[in-house]
Amino acid sequence: MAADPRALAAQVLVRVHDAGRSLSDVLPVAQSECADERDAALLQELVYGTVRWYYRLDAILGQLLRKPFKPRDADLHCLLLVGLYQLDQLAVPERVAVHETVQAVRTLRKDWASGLANAVLRGFQRRREELENAVASDEVAGFSHPRWLIEQLRSDWPDQYRQILLANNMRPPFSLRVNRRRITRAEYLDLLQSLAIEAMPIPGTDQGIRLATPMAVARLPGFFAGDVSVQDGAAQLAAELLDVRPGMRVLDACAAPGGKTAHLLEREPEIALTALDIDAQRLVRVQENLDRLGLHAGLLVADAGQPGQWWDGQRFDRILLDAPCTGTGVIRRHPDIKLLRRAADIAALAQRQAELLKAMWPLLSPGGMLLYSTCSVLKTENSNQVADFLGYQADAIERPMLAGRVKVAGVGSQILPGENGMDGFYYACLHKTV
Ligand SMILES: C[S@@+](CC[C@H](N)C(=O)[O-])C[C@H]1O[C@@H](n2cnc3c(N)ncnc32)[C@H](O)[C@@H]1O
Repeated sequence: MAADPRALAAQVLVRVHDAGRSLSDVLPVAQSECADERDAALLQELVYGTVRWYYRLDAILGQLLRKPFKPRDADLHCLLLVGLYQLDQLAVPERVAVHETVQAVRTLRKDWASGLANAVLRGFQRRREELENAVASDEVAGFSHPRWLIEQLRSDWPDQYRQILLANNMRPPFSLRVNRRRITRAEYLDLLQSLAIEAMPIPGTDQGIRLATPMAVARLPGFFAGDVSVQDGAAQLAAELLDVRPGMRVLDACAAPGGKTAHLLEREPEIALTALDIDAQRLVRVQENLDRLGLHAGLLVADAGQPGQWWDGQRFDRILLDAPCTGTGVIRRHPDIKLLRRAADIAALAQRQAELLKAMWPLLSPGGMLLYSTCSVLKTENSNQVADFLGYQADAIERPMLAGRVKVAGVGSQILPGENGMDGFYYACLHKTV
């Protein structure tokens, strides 16, 4: 197929929506078929944006079509969503958006539908106000989220759920962590300023910087030398909270791709750090990150839930359990979560988290600390999970460490998406009594 970014976008969307693949899996392959960097960037914009606004665009399309497409024409359905996204949300000249989308119908070899595509997009232009009013009255379309997630957020956060839903639809900031072993944050900010790259410190972090406009990492000064890494401000709190000191034995139990592993070592290289992950391929990315930053950890492909298979019996002073979760705190970065997750995933993930907590605790030294974290905003995975754990684990106490800086969420601390510009994140510092 010719490398037409709109036709490619439709095909990527079919794979996400119908085959349940993630954007981060499917998009790079499609981008490699693009003619140049500009097309690859356009493709990214089209798929991320269409997925972000999927529920809104789908409701609009439903009003404009007389009957739905057959399953074999799912690519056309997705292409029309891409067309509507351009008209609804982007500053692309409308003439270009309509013309190029109709062209993409032909690229998909569905010429029979070019008149239909033209009529749908022109229909949107003509009836825009009426269509917008119609979708605004429906929560799913209005917030552009699946109904189960709206209901779950309303139940967990009755006063904040609207703010969470709106924040989830924002474009995420481009955030960096400065490697303090190589350069100070102030020096790096000066360097960016000298290159006319607008940036500011992330409040509440030691090393965080936010750029006004995202850019390719290859263009960041000192990126390949290890001066900076891409990491959200909320994720940067983990290394600070874990409070590691020279000589400590530290376990990063769910380490890949290694953002927090690297940050821990940047703060304190004189620790014996084991970085473990169940996924061998993802662990390769930890090694790549450490190599770029010139850091060292012992890497282990293993199941944290089965320490009997790999643990040598020596306890750890600190354990970071950055558990697999629904990712509901990072929807603005991964909007495909709205299409891929199901309500039933919550209970299954909560069960795995509970098993991991239980399995990790005996590995912690008396007087040591386990930091439990997720990039979720759901209480089942966060405060309720930790409350259940404290309910049966008599030698565990929780000490709020972010009090005054972050919302205390019953047990632990919850950052909601967009708060201080950060991703949604949950932290609980669990200390083992001596
Ligand atoms: C939220 S991600 C970790 C992100 C990482 N801490 C960072 O900052 O870059 C969760 C990770 O847990 C891993 N994982 C899931 N189940 C696991 C298990 N039973 N044992 C070890 N790792 C597991 C996944 O492969 C995934 O890489």
